[in-house]
Amino acid sequence: MTQTPSNADQIAFWNGDAGEKWVKAQDRLDAMLAPITAEVLKAASVKPGERVLDVGCGCGETSIVLAKAGARVTGVDISRPMLARAKQRAAESRIDAFDAIEADASERKFDATYDLLFSRFGVMFFADADAAFANLRKALKPGGRLAFACWREPRANEWVSVPVGAIRPHVPPQPPLGPEDPGPFAFADLARVRRILANAGFDSIAARPFDSPMQLGETFEDALAHIQDFGPVSRMMAPASDAEKAKAAAALRHALEPYASKKPIALGGATWIVTAKA
Ligand SMILES: C[S@@+](CC[C@H](N)C(=O)[O-])C[C@H]1O[C@@H](n2cnc3c(N)ncnc32)[C@H](O)[C@@H]1O
Repeated sequence: MTQTPSNADQIAFWNGDAGEKWVKAQDRLDAMLAPITAEVLKAASVKPGERVLDVGCGCGETSIVLAKAGARVTGVDISRPMLARAKQRAAESRIDAFDAIEADASERKFDATYDLLFSRFGVMFFADADAAFANLRKALKPGGRLAFACWREPRANEWVSVPVGAIRPHVPPQPPLGPEDPGPFAFADLARVRRILANAGFDSIAARPFDSPMQLGETFEDALAHIQDFGPVSRMMAPASDAEKAKAAAALRHALEPYASKKPIALGGATWIVTAKA
């Protein structure tokens, strides 16, 4: 695989601990994200026989759903462990209409044969988003379209702002992340998303907010364990001392107590569902 030097950090990240954790938590994450999957699929309105490029396909959930809807799907991702899981799942489901490519989607040259560019949370990690979308647009046939889901701003996403806010005072400071730096919230600013897509040659750009509860665990203890083992909280706690970890864990428990009475434990999630035409 060739690699754009500027995406090297993301390639290392998704091939390291993060990729392994996504593979391990895949069933839970797909269940948690199911309402968003349904929403972005509705926006994509894929038709049987269409060719779809699933950008940052990860462990393959959306590629498999698209293939089951009759599309011929290419999943592209930089994460070897996640792609391996995607291939294994497609084989287990006896899905032939799925190919996996290990490549950086921002620079891989695709033939202009796709009807649809699709992504569930796989397009916010490009170091140069303008160049990435200009490249991806070239994969579309004339009249092709795009549909993806991305996160709105962190404070609208309780599932991340509540746990992160609770532990932040107790763990070592994190390197600052700018709002446009590659990461889950890089597309929170809709004006930026519109600018990137327009610069890449897309039109009919539309985005609507979609809110859905993020089910973090069946029980309070299950949710607490998952949050500490996965995502930003686990990364923030990793360099902490034992004493700091204990304080952070207590603060997290306290912050989540208001959500403990309902089963499963769910905190708010806030996304943009974005569509455009080539
Ligand atoms: C948040 S995960 C989402 C995975 C999957 N779409 C899902 O919803 O389960 C982001 C995915 O984007 C992939 N990714 C990040 N940068 C990429 C790039 N430059 N090219 C291709 N995939 C990339 C990661 O490896 C990871 O699988």
